[in-house]
Amino acid sequence: MDKPTLGVYVHWPFCAAKCPYCDFNSHVRQAVDHSAWRRALLSELATMAARLPDRRVVSIFFGGGTPSLMAPETVAAILADIGHHWDLDPAAEITLEANPSSVEAGRFAEFRAAGVGRVSLGVQALRDADLKALGRLHSAADAKRAFDTAQKTFPRVSFDLIYARQRQSLADWEKELREALDMTADHLSLYQLTVEPGTRFGALHARGRLRGLPSPALSAAFYEVTQALTEAAGLPAYEVSNHAKPGCESRHNLVYWMARDFIGIGPGAHGRFGTAPRIGTETELMPEVWLERVGKHGHGIVSEEMNTGFDHAAEYLMMGLRLRRGISLRRLATLGISDLDTGFFEDEGLLHRAGDTLRATARGNLLLNTLVAELLPRESAA
Ligand SMILES: C[S@@+](CC[C@H](N)C(=O)[O-])C[C@H]1O[C@@H](n2cnc3c(N)ncnc32)[C@H](O)[C@@H]1O
Ligand code: SF4
Repeated sequence: MDKPTLGVYVHWPFCAAKCPYCDFNSHVRQAVDHSAWRRALLSELATMAARLPDRRVVSIFFGGGTPSLMAPETVAAILADIGHHWDLDPAAEITLEANPSSVEAGRFAEFRAAGVGRVSLGVQALRDADLKALGRLHSAADAKRAFDTAQKTFPRVSFDLIYARQRQSLADWEKELREALDMTADHLSLYQLTVEPGTRFGALHARGRLRGLPSPALSAAFYEVTQALTEAAGLPAYEVSNHAKPGCESRHNLVYWMARDFIGIGPGAHGRFGTAPRIGTETELMPEVWLERVGKHGHGIVSEEMNTGFDHAAEYLMMGLRLRRGISLRRLATLGISDLDTGFFEDEGLLHRAGDTLRATARGNLLLNTLVAELLPRESAA
């Protein structure tokens, strides 16, 4: 029988500078001991491999932080060890997040030689003034150059843009998005700017000093224009913020959204694997503390939850409804929820049910969290 699949997420927690909107686990350090970090990441990987043997790895994602600041030897060593610990699917998707200001052609080539097949570039904006306001260290021209190099180097390239920015007009976003679509990536992640507590933008906002953010009505218009333009360009949304040419969806994202098994290596990484119990792991956030813990215990896990089969079903419902393709009701029933009462939401035009598939409509997509909370059977959720 086929071995159960596994996704591997590796978190690199360092960045050249902290962006004022970002609440990811990212830190700025004067110096990083790359050998010590390589040893620790490999050690945590070995610990997880001993816990979860006999798996087929279908996706590996180096996220951050800024993993393009990793030593390419570290990426190569992690990929080699994944191949020693498990079966590495020949079609496995191997992605590295890259920042356009910290990369150059030589490094891309080394990451490619290490085995990376897909790069996700943090372009964020194609307007220099906006890049500056977002605290980015690169210009739009730098981002385009990095994108061109990436396209020459990797079989698959995606990039991220943030929209609904301060003082952004709908007309200019249309123009910018058309420029982005002309760059012909096979995948685009388009995020509306969110103001997160604990960030510099969060603090400014709390003092009423983050000006020019769009009203809810304008935000909704941004979203609609984004859907229409990407759809017309052949990169429809396959998830709320993710767009791809058919067949170019990020397999790693699909592991999360289909509630499949994955492990998380590195500071602040999450993992979820198994069913009844479905185990959820979380590692220490602070890089130096994580490093020390791995030295002592072989892993940096600080929290481990034993979730029920019902929790796994709820995870599948919550994550899967983000996908345009929706969820399989049969799989949901196998995981433990078979009595979903969707009639009211179908009548309201928020959900669509056809045969085995349940999906959210475009309107439903805007209300997903509320929808899922209402849908979950109450007695089991208690
Ligand atoms: C871990 S970060 C990206 C990788 C890389 N460090 C970079 O910045 O280029 C993942 C993505 O999340 C998005 N993001 C982060 N914070 C956000 C926020 N507050 N609002 C909208 N998008 C955000 C950005 O598009 C970013 O590229
Ligand atoms: S957006 Fe990227 S570069 Fe900026 S702080 Fe966050 S992880 Fe680092």
